[in-house]
Amino acid sequence: MDSRMARYLITSAIPYINGIKHLGTLIGSQLPADLYARYMRARGHEVMFICATDEHGTPAELAAAKAGKPVAEFCAEMHGVQAQIAKGFRLSFDHFGRSSSPQNHAMTQYFAGKLADNGLIQEVTEEQVYSKADGRFLPDRYIEGTCPNCGYDRARGDQCENCTKQLNPTELIDPRSAISGSTDLEVRQTKHLYLRQSALKDDLDAWIDAKTDWPVLTTSIAKKWLHDGDGLRDRGITRDLDWGVPVKNGDKEWPGMEGKVFYVWFDAPIEYIAGTREWADAAGRPDADWQRWWRTDMGADDVTYVQFMGKDNVPFHTLSFPATIMGSNEPWKLVDYIKSFNFLNYDGGQFSTSQGRGVFLDQALEILPADYWRWWLLSHAPETSDSEFTWEQFQTDVNKDLADVLGNFVSRVTKFCRSKFGEAVPEGGENGPDEIALIERLKSGLATYEAHMQAMEIRKAAGELRALWVAGNEYLQVTQPWAVFKTDPDRAAAVIRLSLNLIRFYAVLSAPFIPDASASMLSALKTEDDNWPDDLDAALTTLPAGHTFEVPEVLFAKITDDQRAEWQERFAGTRD
Ligand code: MF3
Ligand code: ZN
Repeated sequence: MDSRMARYLITSAIPYINGIKHLGTLIGSQLPADLYARYMRARGHEVMFICATDEHGTPAELAAAKAGKPVAEFCAEMHGVQAQIAKGFRLSFDHFGRSSSPQNHAMTQYFAGKLADNGLIQEVTEEQVYSKADGRFLPDRYIEGTCPNCGYDRARGDQCENCTKQLNPTELIDPRSAISGSTDLEVRQTKHLYLRQSALKDDLDAWIDAKTDWPVLTTSIAKKWLHDGDGLRDRGITRDLDWGVPVKNGDKEWPGMEGKVFYVWFDAPIEYIAGTREWADAAGRPDADWQRWWRTDMGADDVTYVQFMGKDNVPFHTLSFPATIMGSNEPWKLVDYIKSFNFLNYDGGQFSTSQGRGVFLDQALEILPADYWRWWLLSHAPETSDSEFTWEQFQTDVNKDLADVLGNFVSRVTKFCRSKFGEAVPEGGENGPDEIALIERLKSGLATYEAHMQAMEIRKAAGELRALWVAGNEYLQVTQPWAVFKTDPDRAAAVIRLSLNLIRFYAVLSAPFIPDASASMLSALKTEDDNWPDDLDAALTTLPAGHTFEVPEVLFAKITDDQRAEWQERFAGTRD
């Protein structure tokens, strides 16, 4: 075992179950998390990469009703659909779990019990709107009415979309159920559990203060909620719904809370832990195998835990979930680093699930292979500000980076070799000043790339990788093997030998971004050696003279203007 080997626990925010996600969701957490997981594995580290579907809450219930299916059945089906899509994008989860799993039920009830034991749960009786026609309590956002502030007639019970005023449902004029439209509403009393987050404020504050290396996007949001927002108000963690984790205190009943469930945002992050337990259970492994990732008394002390998410998820991961963990007063692993993202916009507006605007993940895979999307999205990750997807930009970048630069290098080198030397690494010649200069360039570029990947500076890493591809093309421009061949075939052989090895080097470095193309490159080179080039000189002589290969199929076909125009049109509006 490599003595520098470390352990990385990596989680991506878990996507809601109610529908297929779009490109914005993918680049907002799952894809960057996958990049990091793949990179860490490639460096020889032990990785546990967990994601899941977020299955509870009213949106899931409503989506199921709309589909005319029982909610459990709907969720099981959609989980399968999302898992299939994740596979299509080559997301390399160690486990893709479900927040509705028995493991998550147990863990959620367990944590609630611990919080209660530690005096952090308070029972509060509150008034809530009940709809007789719907036969249920209505969550604030499912009550609609006229805004008392601006008169907008479709204001929601939590907020008016028109004037942004925060509202209480009882303030709405002419309130109605957003589910059925019924106005037969009444206010009823109901009892709920509140998590006394405010009691943990100082601990959370000190904890965040110590995270001096976190991205400003992450800490600024956390600080805002800690100090001038009301994010640290004590928070209701139960709901009057049918679908969810039943409220229990560990495995005991919770008197007075019969028929209620935990709030979806309480159980969802606990699924990171429960998902790891699902992984162990599915493989028939003992509890110690998942606990060594999560319990500092079971070996998780030396785990580095990194979470990926969109900026809208930051308050829940910097405050609420840590409050659950800290409040348990047990040795559970807290996150070490939070990488958060801004939003990706679509062609001059926003992606909209409800309006079907933008490219949905199933559609994306129908029109182009995963690597095209992976490369473009990652190289434009919305790290420092929101970024925008346009078809023009997508076409230009993909054609240039993938087809003209990387694809072209692979094709020129392999085809030239086949025509002049045959399909084997040629013999003869030796490295001269051009090779020494190239290797120097690769050495420094590799170090830069590694540093960016380690730091999760995704755009910068993509930029350096692209620069390394460009360096290969420039090397061919300078050395001109096709011209030199006529007078000095040995010299041309030396250039091509290094270039073929360079293809392997590219395949290894590029794999976290474009795993399929990388696998095609290695298979064309007839090698399974995908070891990281820790020793660059050795890496560039891995394929010796005489080693056979074949010319690969075109790695990346260019996107034509016609295709672009067609897609632009197709994805502009409503999804049917
Ligand atoms: N489903 C949420 C969203 O898409 C994310 C939940 S992340 C978790 O915004 F931590 F709660 F699991
Ligand atoms: Zn208003």
